[in-house]
Amino acid sequence: MAILLTGGAGYIGSHTALTILNSGMDVVVLDNLLNSSEEALKRVEQLTGKKAPLIVGDCTRKEDLEKVFSQYPIEQVVHFAGLKAVGESVEKPLLYYRNNLDATLTLLEVMRAHGCFDIVFSSSATVYGTIQEMPLRETLPVGCTNPYGWTKCMSEQILKDTAAADERFHIVLLRYFNPVGAHESGMIGEDPSGIPNNLMPFICQVARGRLKELSVFGHDYPTKDGTGVRDYIHVMDLAEGHLAALHYARDHAGAEVFNLGTGTGYSVMDLVNTFEAVNQVKVPYHFAPRRPGDIATCYADPAKAKEVLGWSAKRTLTDMCRDAWNWQKHNPDGYRS
Ligand code: NAD
Ligand code: WQD
Repeated sequence: MAILLTGGAGYIGSHTALTILNSGMDVVVLDNLLNSSEEALKRVEQLTGKKAPLIVGDCTRKEDLEKVFSQYPIEQVVHFAGLKAVGESVEKPLLYYRNNLDATLTLLEVMRAHGCFDIVFSSSATVYGTIQEMPLRETLPVGCTNPYGWTKCMSEQILKDTAAADERFHIVLLRYFNPVGAHESGMIGEDPSGIPNNLMPFICQVARGRLKELSVFGHDYPTKDGTGVRDYIHVMDLAEGHLAALHYARDHAGAEVFNLGTGTGYSVMDLVNTFEAVNQVKVPYHFAPRRPGDIATCYADPAKAKEVLGWSAKRTLTDMCRDAWNWQKHNPDGYRS
């Protein structure tokens, strides 16, 4: 039996593929490679000594999914496939709704047709919208501020309704906070195309000299140093969270939501200062106006994942900064290096 990872060639998917393979289970990947490279999976194979077959195909296409389910004995699915750039989703809402919702709907239909009912879904802390009550608990109401976020809220609802209507479904919704870092080998990592939107890859490219300076968006927030505070989580901790979720899904019907975060908030300046100190590199920066749509502070209450899944994040901010830079240093142009 095998675990299907949709979007498994991507950043979080490739780290999770590695973790699942190392745990002794088989992995099959379906990815359209729109935002990823086959090279990531080749490196996963080098690191684990095991191959995860890649089917280049699209989750919105029933025939591509049919091919996977008829060719492999899929027991459980982790559904990473999706578009994830917040800004782009504001400019191209139909692209985001079509891709992200269609992928979820088509996948669920094909799973049911093939008697596969266990699914772990990549949701996001973005579903908490502008809630200011910290830490964020799973019981808070959801609501979003951009089309990308709405695709996550809507997919969550689709999955919850599906579980409510059909008790054969075992569904786990994982709300990731801010995934950063890379596998400690430096062989796989985050490889954004173009100028990164997110803080850690931007810092890495400034440190490497590819980008001149970091713009710190806002230094007048009501936080300890005025810069935005987030719950950064090491991608390998996140990958291990998926393994715990897959184990849980095996014998729990229904739909259950879990935050995957550390529970600790760090500011933009905490990241810059830790990155410089641990890696002995300079990250030139200047203060810039707030980025529209940003909130001051966002961090998880990770207690439920600890209690129910037996999972908690182990790696520190130092680990995150060291591993992100190790990947960047060894792969200055990502998988094209
Ligand atoms: P990623 O872009 O690296 O990985 C997503 C993968 O899905 C890519 O390989 C892409 O080619 C593929 N894909 C997209 N649409 C597809 C489709 N229709 N059919 C087949 N493949 C498709 O992104 P990631 O950072 O690894 O994120 C994985 C998931 O986690 C996404 O759903 C994302 O929304 C969610 N998430 C990410 C973050 C983050 O900050 N990275 C935070 C919260 C949630
Ligand atoms: C972090 C902090 C910025 C870039 C996003 C998505 C969210 C989720 C995770 C998918 C903020 C500041 C950033 C820069 C900066 N993704 N910053 N200069 O916005 O918390 O979350 O990724 O689900 O949906 O919105 O992450 O890394 O963009 O920003 O000062 O060049 O860094 O203002 O305080 P964010 P981020």
